[in-house]
Amino acid sequence: MSTLWHGRFAGGPAEELLAYSASLSFDQRLWPDDLEGSRAHVRGLARANILTSAERDAVLVALDQVESELSANSFVFGAADEDIHTAVERRVTELAGAAGAKLHTGRSRNDQVATDLRLYTKRSLREVAGRILVLQHVLLDQAIAGGDAYLPGYTHLQRAQPVLLAHHLLAHGWALARDVDRLLDCHRRADVSPLGAGALAGSSIPLDPDGVATDLGFARRFENSLDAVSDRDFVAEAIFTLTLVGIHLSRMGEEVVLWSSEEFGFAQLDDAYSTGSSMLPQKKNPDIAELARGKAGRLIGDLTGLLATLKGLPLAYNRDLQEDKEPLFDAVDQVSLALAAMGGLMATLHFDVEAMQAAADVPAAAATDLAEYLVVGGMPFREAHALVGSLVRQSLEGGSSLADLVAAHPALGDDGVALLAPGVSVTRRTTPGGAGPAAVAVQLRRFEEQLRTDGERVAR
Ligand code: ARG
Repeated sequence: MSTLWHGRFAGGPAEELLAYSASLSFDQRLWPDDLEGSRAHVRGLARANILTSAERDAVLVALDQVESELSANSFVFGAADEDIHTAVERRVTELAGAAGAKLHTGRSRNDQVATDLRLYTKRSLREVAGRILVLQHVLLDQAIAGGDAYLPGYTHLQRAQPVLLAHHLLAHGWALARDVDRLLDCHRRADVSPLGAGALAGSSIPLDPDGVATDLGFARRFENSLDAVSDRDFVAEAIFTLTLVGIHLSRMGEEVVLWSSEEFGFAQLDDAYSTGSSMLPQKKNPDIAELARGKAGRLIGDLTGLLATLKGLPLAYNRDLQEDKEPLFDAVDQVSLALAAMGGLMATLHFDVEAMQAAADVPAAAATDLAEYLVVGGMPFREAHALVGSLVRQSLEGGSSLADLVAAHPALGDDGVALLAPGVSVTRRTTPGGAGPAAVAVQLRRFEEQLRTDGERVAR
């Protein structure tokens, strides 16, 4: 069996070595990036006069052939193809002969794999950002459709003050907007070409890392060859950013679980986005929302696993770094699936506005409005807070309703009772960024504008 490195070895590799160290099963997905990197490298070698233009063209033709085989799924992998880089180079050499055997000049798999992974990461970050925007548009549409519907806002999962449904949905939308920003920020730091760093120290061959970086669409080249081949900050950052997306989806999912329970009764799941029980005929379960919650744990595992892999590594390349790919691929895959599933779930969620509003219209939810009414009349807030608090306590102890107690209180009276009427409290959250209709109308326009500019940034 012939490996890329057999020259120095008298015997062939052990079965167990290949079984343990091969990465082809998962790094195959890098093939489009590996071909791009090889094309740029070969063009760079021709510019450096290491390859004649005829040799360059022969390799480029072979790379095209490899591309059609890989995309048609007709590429035949060999037993010694330990990774995608080996497989591509082996096939190019079969196809282009001596010219193909020059492909790896001045290049190591160390700078090659770092290049491939950066290209993959850049592409994936943009794709995920695009998927987030789709979900944000769903939230926007549901917020607009919600109109002036309101529900209790919670702190400590205890009813606090009424908020518009639109306001609640957009709270998740803004968290996702920060994710889009973080993905693009992460993209900027991934946008550095490591190609030309060689195994660790650069090359005696007059390579052209700047030209190759430009050819590959990178914003710039590496500054230090040791750093270029050992840096996986971009992978750690990408996984962190994806994990945070997963955590936002998890929190959204948790609310869908609560809202769709009979105890809350705020929302009903569409049949297509819920599951039944194999035993309990009446059940309709929020499995997508639960998986969004559960898979956040797995994403945290991807992140901590990679950080643990990186923490003790000396410079420069170590084979440990091969462990960077599976957590990254898993995070990209899981977040992409979750965004699509949660998008469908949220788009088809039916809100039970009556139940939401009934829960928000309990008189005590307007307690802060009563206290603020007293404050406007000149009473210090602490005193107003204590006064309203004692009325709430008396109403809970039985005897009189809060409305009767408010009506009978000289400082509150009819004005106070009016504040307890259904639907009044939420209209009083008028401050910028607040939960009432006037403020939310402004927020909706700002959110729409954010999606428009983010759409342009992601497409760029
Ligand atoms: N499959 C390897 C990886 O993913 C490629 C680099 C191998 N380099 C080496 N020096 N053995 O990291």
